[in-house]
Amino acid sequence: MSIIVSPSVLAADFAHLDKECSMIEASQADWLHVDVMDGVFVPNISMGSPVIKSLRKHLSKPLDVHLMIVDPGRYVNMFAELGANINVHYEACTHLDRTIAQIKEAGMKPAVTLNPHTPVELLEDILDELFMVLLMSVNPGFGGQSFIPNTLKKIQRLKSAIDRRGLQTHIEVDGGINAETGRQCVEAGADVLVAGSYVFGSKDPFEAINSLKACRADR
Ligand code: DX5
Ligand code: ZN
Repeated sequence: MSIIVSPSVLAADFAHLDKECSMIEASQADWLHVDVMDGVFVPNISMGSPVIKSLRKHLSKPLDVHLMIVDPGRYVNMFAELGANINVHYEACTHLDRTIAQIKEAGMKPAVTLNPHTPVELLEDILDELFMVLLMSVNPGFGGQSFIPNTLKKIQRLKSAIDRRGLQTHIEVDGGINAETGRQCVEAGADVLVAGSYVFGSKDPFEAINSLKACRADR
């Protein structure tokens, strides 16, 4: 199984996003992870559509937008027009089934994110609809936090449910990912790795990305 690597731009130098995009473009990274925070759903504010529009101009690879905002259904069409794929938080959607339908209608593939305290079993009745599940391995809002080990059990339980149903749903993990925690997540069943500080804080981001891509070798 090939591992998808999605470096998180939150840890990049925002004054030089063109250079960061060139690095991503030239690297083995598959996607660029973009954290949108509203200061309400999470205790931090990051970026919105003007920044994503600029990133889109400088990058041909898919934008993996992680929406940490309340009621993300309000913005589905806006992100579709920006040419992004979106992850919406289970905890932020009162009518998640409707939001998933909106995402599909807008021509995007639905992905749902769970906070560390949210059991994967809550996806039981919508799992068949999903392209991807993003499991947070830190409490969302900030980069540079430590990986929460219980995430590994959640990945295993989700992977079993996916395999039992014969689905191809991707499992993405986000928060505290490096070559070691990435390998543990892949062994547990994840196939999409998000990494912010590990990639953009590295002296050699290309090598950091390669080490995450190589996590597949240990499966
Ligand atoms: C946290 C964000 C993450 C963050 C990860 O709320 O969702 O995407 O950028 O950063 P690291 O990899 O530094 O934990
Ligand atoms: Zn994220």
